[in-house]
Amino acid sequence: MAGSWLQEALSRATGRGKAMSIFTTIILAAGNGTRMKSDMPKVMHKVANKPMLWHVLRAAEAAGASKNIVIVQDSHEDVKKLALSFPSTEFAVQKEQRGTGDAVKAAQENLQDFDGNIVILSGDCPNISADDISNLLNSAKSNQISLIAFSPLDPAQYGRVITSENKVLGIVEYKDASEEQRNIDVCNSGIYALPAKLLFSLLDELKSNNAQGEYYLTDIVTIAASKGIETVFCWADENNVLGINDKAELAAAEAIMQDNLCQAAMKQGTTLIDQGTTFLSADTKIGRNVVIKPFTYIDENVEIGDDVTIGPFAHIRHATKIGKGAKIGNFVEIKKSNIGAGSKISHLSYIGDANLGENVNIGAGTITCNYDGFKKYKTDIGNGVFVGSNSSLIAPLEIEEGAIIAAGSTITEKVVKDSIGIARSEQKNLAEKALSFRNNKSSSEK
Ligand code: UD1
Ligand code: MG
Repeated sequence: MAGSWLQEALSRATGRGKAMSIFTTIILAAGNGTRMKSDMPKVMHKVANKPMLWHVLRAAEAAGASKNIVIVQDSHEDVKKLALSFPSTEFAVQKEQRGTGDAVKAAQENLQDFDGNIVILSGDCPNISADDISNLLNSAKSNQISLIAFSPLDPAQYGRVITSENKVLGIVEYKDASEEQRNIDVCNSGIYALPAKLLFSLLDELKSNNAQGEYYLTDIVTIAASKGIETVFCWADENNVLGINDKAELAAAEAIMQDNLCQAAMKQGTTLIDQGTTFLSADTKIGRNVVIKPFTYIDENVEIGDDVTIGPFAHIRHATKIGKGAKIGNFVEIKKSNIGAGSKISHLSYIGDANLGENVNIGAGTITCNYDGFKKYKTDIGNGVFVGSNSSLIAPLEIEEGAIIAAGSTITEKVVKDSIGIARSEQKNLAEKALSFRNNKSSSEK
């Protein structure tokens, strides 16, 4: 397919290499994921706290996809829901899992009137970047197939790309490959770009006479070659295009993504004392002058303001905002809470479903008791409140501005502005009782 008038115009306007700028993706996410040995669909497994499919959709959107068609199994409601959380998404159902070629075919109905270019992505390739997709598009010319190849340290069971100079002659799956072919170190990432019309005409010719009895998408390359249609390739870093088929590969993708997230955080000025024990989520937002000390785990949907210090040994869970200059110390867990500017939670505390104002001081061992076994309840703590150590704050609860909670209190009722809340049994001192106690003990031991 020569480019449409719109693409031609765009190509003229933006110069060389942008000929495939307008594109739709097909994202394969309907596989059984057998090798994961899990009841959860493979693409829902998380890397940096977000499902693999989320990462792929995000990269596709960032690269400028006009639409993403996600191929799903009909019964995978969670996959559909995730896919539709991206406004550019449609999905198509693959009824039976008959291979990657058959999966792509499921998108044909969605694309009946589409005359543009397709980028095929794999839902099990979470580390793909928008730049990789752009490079792929830039490497492609009209009426060609273009694919991303990579050369990993261990080519494992990836499909091998048979090349001659910069052209691809074919792709052979590991299970179908000869010893000699298995020695090829150019691997197929499973990511391709080509015109939609060409794609669906090639898919019509796929056969399943191979080691796995499947319709391999990879066979479109040989079919294209037999018609004189060229396939070219561009390179990507192994770390960006590794495909995740089992739990060990999932952990490898996690390690790479953690490294990327930490490097990006440090680049924008965050101090990480020990990158190896710092865990960030893909959507973690970090302000300026933030220090994160070792053994800190930050869950999804967390925002950390400027000048905040966190850790060591801190667990910041989902939906938490930490205001400017706040200090979160060791063995502190925070969940679904807002921590106001300048507040301190320095040691051994659980703060859940809470709103803390500014300059609040939470003493060691303070617990918001937010759950009664049935429902979660909120705790509101006003500006400048001081909570003494080892206090239990039984939610729902409000502690107004300027109040003080005496250490060791179990607070069940609202504490009004500037008052002291004290709720602990009164102390009795029994004079010389220690002496008689010790005497009794030592005589009974004889
Ligand atoms: C595939 C490629 C292989 C490549 C590797 C890169 C084929 C035949 N092989 O192998 O050349 O090196 O990716 O990671 O394409 N899926 C469906 N429906 C199906 C089968 C699979 O939607 O019927 C989806 C899966 O959910 C997955 C993607 O397609 O997201 C790839 O399938 P997978 O089984 O992981 O293929 P690989 O064996 O990794
Ligand atoms: Mg795979």
